[in-house]
Amino acid sequence: MKNILWVCLMAASLSCHADDVSAGRAKADVACALCHGPNGVATLPNAPNLAGQQAFYVSEQLKNYRSGKRQNEVMGLIAKPLTDAEITQLAAWYSAIKVSVELP
Ligand code: HEC
Repeated sequence: MKNILWVCLMAASLSCHADDVSAGRAKADVACALCHGPNGVATLPNAPNLAGQQAFYVSEQLKNYRSGKRQNEVMGLIAKPLTDAEITQLAAWYSAIKVSVELP
């Protein structure tokens, strides 16, 4: 019984995660891609890459910009209207992008 419950919880969180990724992608295409790139690799020299970034880190930074704990004129304005749900979705999207690294 306990195992069945566990499997159900896992399945629910997985499908929820997939929904977050696609909702995050749709939001990012409109609100973030101009600077952070459609694939999370920044298109502006002063904007950081977000592809493959830890979801926890992305959501913490967005909350910090939103609260003013982290100060940046552009990101402060962009983060201000974001809801917690949107932040979760955006973080899910950027962390779901697979990156590979090549050492110099
Ligand atoms: C007009 C360009 C622009 C847009 C649009 C934009 N950003 Fe940014 N973003 C920046 C810049 C520039 C920084 C670096 C700010 C700093 O120095 O703190 C940044 C920083 C960030 C960081 C911190 C990354 C780190 O490495 O600490 C996150 C997370 C982020 N942006 C997410 C987003 C999301 C999500 C959106 C869309 C809702 C978005 N940004 C839209 C320009 C932009």
